[in-house]
Amino acid sequence: MSNRRPLIAGNWKMYKTCEESVEAAQKLTSLVDGVTDTDIMIAPTFTSLFSVYGVVKGSRVDLGAQNLYWEEEGAFTGEISAGMLKSAGCSSVIIGHSERRQYFGETDETVNKKIKAALSCGLKTVFCIGESEAQRDLNLTFSVLDKQVQTGLKDFVSDDLRDLVVAYEPIWAIGTGKTATSEQAQEVHTFLRASIAKQFDEPLAQSIRILYGGSVKPGNIAELMSMHDIDGALVGGASLDAETFSQIVKF
Ligand code: PGA
Repeated sequence: MSNRRPLIAGNWKMYKTCEESVEAAQKLTSLVDGVTDTDIMIAPTFTSLFSVYGVVKGSRVDLGAQNLYWEEEGAFTGEISAGMLKSAGCSSVIIGHSERRQYFGETDETVNKKIKAALSCGLKTVFCIGESEAQRDLNLTFSVLDKQVQTGLKDFVSDDLRDLVVAYEPIWAIGTGKTATSEQAQEVHTFLRASIAKQFDEPLAQSIRILYGGSVKPGNIAELMSMHDIDGALVGGASLDAETFSQIVKF
């Protein structure tokens, strides 16, 4: 367990209608009502954001989006800006999730633009990185992550990154039921702090929160959170049920 404040974030991906999102958010806010020592965030689909904001406003649960586009406004059919997310009630956003990189062509360069847009609008930004199974097998994990961090955070200085959270999500552990062991995750998180210290400075590396993501469940969260450099979790599947997610929040 670190001395950084834990964050448990739920990524609802492309699940739940508006009604289902509102219902799940209502259940969750009442289940986590007494939690004061952990930050909590949920990221519903775009179409549910504003309705869910009506539920979580003033509660222990922060609202996040799953993506944004870096321009402020314009002829960009189908896209949504950081300012629009804020006006829908978001205080956070997830950027660079591996599913966005894999299916929607996001690159370290576009991720960098999105992080800039998010942070300059005052959104807490959960910046996702992670290696594939093939990359891990080829011993490329650290070089892949180093490049993702270097390029994703290019042109920032450490003062810009106060609202940044890094989420380490090994692609082979997402939605597969295969969790990285707490030692594997800890090893990577230590590496990431060193990489951030090298690119920026030691105070930032020590204060930045690094979440683990990939098949996090009520049964493995306590073990993961016992590691010194794991500051929370980005949870997919297990965040969809309010009761299950609240158990993770209360690890
Ligand atoms: P999972 O997803 O918890 O279902 O593995 C994690 C994520 O994609 O953020």
